[in-house]
Amino acid sequence: MHAVRYHDHGGPEVLTVDEVERPTPGPGEVVVAVEAAAVNPVDTYFREGAYEPADLPWIPGSDCAGTVAAVGEGVDYAVGDRVFATGLGNWLQGTAAEAALVPDSHLAALPDGVPFEDGAAVALVGVTAFQSLIAACSLEPGERALVHGGSGGVGHVAVQLAAATGARVTTTASPEYHDRLRELGADDAFDYRRDDLADAVVDAGRPDVILDHRLDDYLALDAEVTAQGGRIAAIGNTEPDATFENVPRCRAKALSVHHVSMFNTPDFGDVLARLAVLLADGDLEAEIAGRYDLDEVAQAQRDVLGESVLGKLVVRP
Ligand SMILES: NC(=O)c1ccc[n+]([C@@H]2O[C@H](COP(=O)([O-])OP(=O)(O)OC[C@H]3O[C@@H](n4cnc5c(N)ncnc54)[C@H](OP(=O)(O)O)[C@@H]3O)[C@@H](O)[C@H]2O)c1
Repeated sequence: MHAVRYHDHGGPEVLTVDEVERPTPGPGEVVVAVEAAAVNPVDTYFREGAYEPADLPWIPGSDCAGTVAAVGEGVDYAVGDRVFATGLGNWLQGTAAEAALVPDSHLAALPDGVPFEDGAAVALVGVTAFQSLIAACSLEPGERALVHGGSGGVGHVAVQLAAATGARVTTTASPEYHDRLRELGADDAFDYRRDDLADAVVDAGRPDVILDHRLDDYLALDAEVTAQGGRIAAIGNTEPDATFENVPRCRAKALSVHHVSMFNTPDFGDVLARLAVLLADGDLEAEIAGRYDLDEVAQAQRDVLGESVLGKLVVRP
């Protein structure tokens, strides 16, 4: 089969399309014939070697959707089942390939009628949004959530998940995406470039829960705007000092900051199954901003860190 691989860590140019042996499933494993795999910023961090060093050569890609092609012992899925998966590409080889080996704990059934590319697009970001808003911050109906970067892969799913939970939603994004984000469930959308962003967020209603993808930039604002006892889920942070400087402000408001990595999700399948319900019922939609072939994954990994888009980029092997 064909798989994208890197044989050394480095820039996008290290990615090649190789002919590799098709995986065979062991006990508790499934081989998924990949119909779509999403592109995530984390793919580029792994490729660069910034995180856990993977064995090389390595297949990038952390999520996918497709049909079950083979099953190992003790697996409840059958050949031909439609599934989607995430939590891959780190300790487990990834999904930018014609087939991927997936532990059955990392899968859920993809409802009929939900396109494969939508399943792939929401898998990693949906689990991230769920782990942040629901598992870490216990967002409840009638509370207000602030989703920074609502136009992003994580953000556009987080807006919908928060709205589906019955929360009121404030989000930030470039202005061209505000109308669509309101359609997806945001009550208020603001340009993050506004000088008076903090005032605008407070006027909309102090958030109880904040999903923050750039904690270095926004923790001070979070601490200013949040309600007393607010909960912050931090999914991206490159300057730890920015966090420590704000500890007194966080303490004064009894804020809790949860540093979330979706790779720590205890049961990927359980969270994916909940996302599947929302997808099936139309409460969660994927915005697909670009499609790539396997031999275009290097460009896809450039683009995922490049120009602004609404939603996700997907690879169609
Ligand atoms: N911890 C985890 O488990 C986890 C999981 C997934 C992602 N992440 C991290 O979370 C971050 C977002 O991931 P993603 O996949 O959603 O990325 P993405 O699709 O590239 O989205 C990036 C978002 O950031 C917004 N943005 C750009 N500049 C900004 C600024 N100065 N202030 C506020 N927002 C700004 C963009 O808005 P516009 O395009 O509208 O300008 C867009 O909404 C990345 O750092 C990623 O590595 C972490």
